[in-house]
Amino acid sequence: MALILVSCTSMIGRGTSLCDEECTDIGCWGPSAGQCFTCRHDALEDGTCVPPCDPENHFIIQPTDDGGIRTCGLCDEQCTGGCTGPSNADCISCRNFQIGSHCTNECNEGQYPVGKICELCPDFCTQGCTGNEHMIGDGGCNQCSIVLIDHEENFMRCLDSLDSCDVDHLQVNSNMYPNSSVCQKCHPECEGGCERAGDSTGCRLCKRHTRGIYCVEQCSSSEYPDADKICRNCDPTCLHCNNGTDTDCTKCENLEVLLEDDKRKCVTECPLEFPYILETYTCVAACPENSFKSEDNICKSCHPECNEGCHNETNKGCLVCEHVKLDGACVAECPDSHEDTNGVCEMSKRFEASPASSPLKVLILITILVLVVVLVVAIVIVVLKLKGPIHRAPNAMYLNDMTKTEESDRDDGGNGIA
Ligand SMILES: *[C@@H]1O[C@H](CO)[C@@H](O)[C@H](O)[C@H]1NC(C)=O
Ligand SMILES: *[C@@H]1O[C@H](CO)[C@@H](O)[C@H](O)[C@H]1NC(C)=O
Ligand SMILES: *[C@@H]1O[C@H](CO)[C@@H](O)[C@H](O)[C@H]1NC(C)=O
Repeated sequence: MALILVSCTSMIGRGTSLCDEECTDIGCWGPSAGQCFTCRHDALEDGTCVPPCDPENHFIIQPTDDGGIRTCGLCDEQCTGGCTGPSNADCISCRNFQIGSHCTNECNEGQYPVGKICELCPDFCTQGCTGNEHMIGDGGCNQCSIVLIDHEENFMRCLDSLDSCDVDHLQVNSNMYPNSSVCQKCHPECEGGCERAGDSTGCRLCKRHTRGIYCVEQCSSSEYPDADKICRNCDPTCLHCNNGTDTDCTKCENLEVLLEDDKRKCVTECPLEFPYILETYTCVAACPENSFKSEDNICKSCHPECNEGCHNETNKGCLVCEHVKLDGACVAECPDSHEDTNGVCEMSKRFEASPASSPLKVLILITILVLVVVLVVAIVIVVLKLKGPIHRAPNAMYLNDMTKTEESDRDDGGNGIA
């Protein structure tokens, strides 16, 4: 050792710039920081000189009170914020993930991270997980040990155990989940489980109705469910029915005859005893109240102002009026000019003469006025004729002076009328 030191000293010499900058001026025996005679700052355990120990990345092995050289160790690379020792369990906190008390760069198989903490995947997962939901995929299992699928083989969820795979379910094999137990729901129309999942032909019993080999929610519109809830065909005369005979129709394609007990029979022509047809295509023995039969035996409603029937659909065809009768027609009320007299609108007394004679009165008045005017004019003319010679010039003068005469004529006329 002494020999080596001597030879190195002689080889490199003190204070030479070939030493690492972490060496003191005393020198070194080689170019690396591990070959200093003494360290300028701190040293690692193996004697390598380092810059002052950095608490982010180092822990102190040998402190000094006098500002001398400290010996420090490097933290594990999974640490962040410093450490208390060299291992990944000595970190102040973890750079990546934490499993138990130590730091790691990723969670183990069968674990998933919650923040930086690795948690064990739940028991229902196989092949790892990304969460603890009962799902396959994000936030759930990569695969689950027991898969629940619906009757159409759609994934529903991961099961904790097969305990719930009993009534209404069936354990099956599925190519989609070769490494899992698969529990499949029976068809929703099944009751009491099924022998085959998939369609409703595998049901032990039907929940609602049975049609042939299938369980169905409802019978078709041309069927009815019998006492055993088996769908049976309606009588061919029916469109819809609630039982099997031709009197059990609930809806007809064409005409219908209503029977006792709410029964109904479908017909293509009304039978003799029910010759008339309602607007609902029902054959009846007689048209109902306040309707009349039209030429084609159809019962049509009377006008709403009719009562007790009618001859036609107008308010003039009523047998009796619901309210009042005006000029042969049934109306809701008499007009103002009329009075209701035992259901018939009759002209009021105060209107009787006046409306018709009013024009006559005016005519008489005008005639009298005209006569008076004529009489006055006649009197004036007579008076003028008597006074004439005093005011008027002789005939010759009248001829020679037309204009003047005309003027005086006009004056006279004016006087006469006034
Ligand atoms: C089933 O398991 C085998 C063996 O573990 C594996 O190779 C295969 O990928 C798995 N299949 C599925 C669909 O998970
Ligand atoms: C249907 O008909 C059967 C036998 O004709 C009868 O027993 C049953 O009560 C009827 N059902 C209905 C809903 O009318
Ligand atoms: C309705 O019947 C009344 C009374 O029989 C008759 O006067 C009237 O003309 C009829 N109206 C029509 C449109 O047939």
